[in-house]
Amino acid sequence: MNEQKATSAPIGIFDSGVGGLTVLKEVLKLLPFENIVYFGDVGRTPYGGRSKEIITQFTTQDVKFLQEQHVKYIICACNSASSVALEEVQKNFDIPMTGVIEPGAKAAVEKTKDGKIGIIGTNATINSNAYASLIHDIDPTLKVFSLACPLFVPLAEEGYIDKEATYLIAKDYLQTMKDVGVDTLVLGCTHYPILKEVIANVMGDDVTLIDSGEETAKASYNIIGESGLFNPKCNQNPTIAGELKYFVSDVPEKFSKVATRFMGKEVINITRVDISKY
Ligand code: DGL
Repeated sequence: MNEQKATSAPIGIFDSGVGGLTVLKEVLKLLPFENIVYFGDVGRTPYGGRSKEIITQFTTQDVKFLQEQHVKYIICACNSASSVALEEVQKNFDIPMTGVIEPGAKAAVEKTKDGKIGIIGTNATINSNAYASLIHDIDPTLKVFSLACPLFVPLAEEGYIDKEATYLIAKDYLQTMKDVGVDTLVLGCTHYPILKEVIANVMGDDVTLIDSGEETAKASYNIIGESGLFNPKCNQNPTIAGELKYFVSDVPEKFSKVATRFMGKEVINITRVDISKY
């Protein structure tokens, strides 16, 4: 490890709202000794139905806020922002960043056996074609089928995890994926891992689900390690947990309630930020 560069500065993770916590959860499993700042743009969520221009503007502001927190590395947990804005936004900052698309796409290419990959996500993610074009960059012979499933976001946030209604909606949405016979399905939205069981149930045992958040956590661990950016203090004693701070762009109450459910433990100490300042 490059001791010179190793730093106790936090990792910044941002999302359009609460969904990025599924990515945070995976990051905490691999990097429990890191200090982390999470920003959820709850005041302007959802991003998934918005235009490229607006998502780019919001993403720039989210990154500026994290920059002010002196983060050493940024994870864009939001699939919509990663798909349509990150590449452009990244050029204006001198902080290493990772989005969720590339790790998810790479994992899908590694896992598929029959060469048929399904991608599900928000309208912004699916319309951008970001997953499909990355997959085709790696292997142009693979067949990619993309589908927007916008109702999954509110269902996950409302806690409709094991309800009949959710199962019926999932069955209806995913029928086309079953018809074309995908053997690998990328959960290309922060909220979909919350509905993993229902999705797995509908798709059946033969279909591998790729959690892009999980893959992003693995990729981030590798990049941070290879760049010599592990937190030196805690890394010497991995049992020491890093500090975790939450920031949101509207009142914290709703975030706290849904976040507690997503994280499986109480989420408190949330600070409100005026993101329009950035
Ligand atoms: N975080 C978004 C994503 O992963 C889902 C919610 C939204 O549309 O903002 O695409």
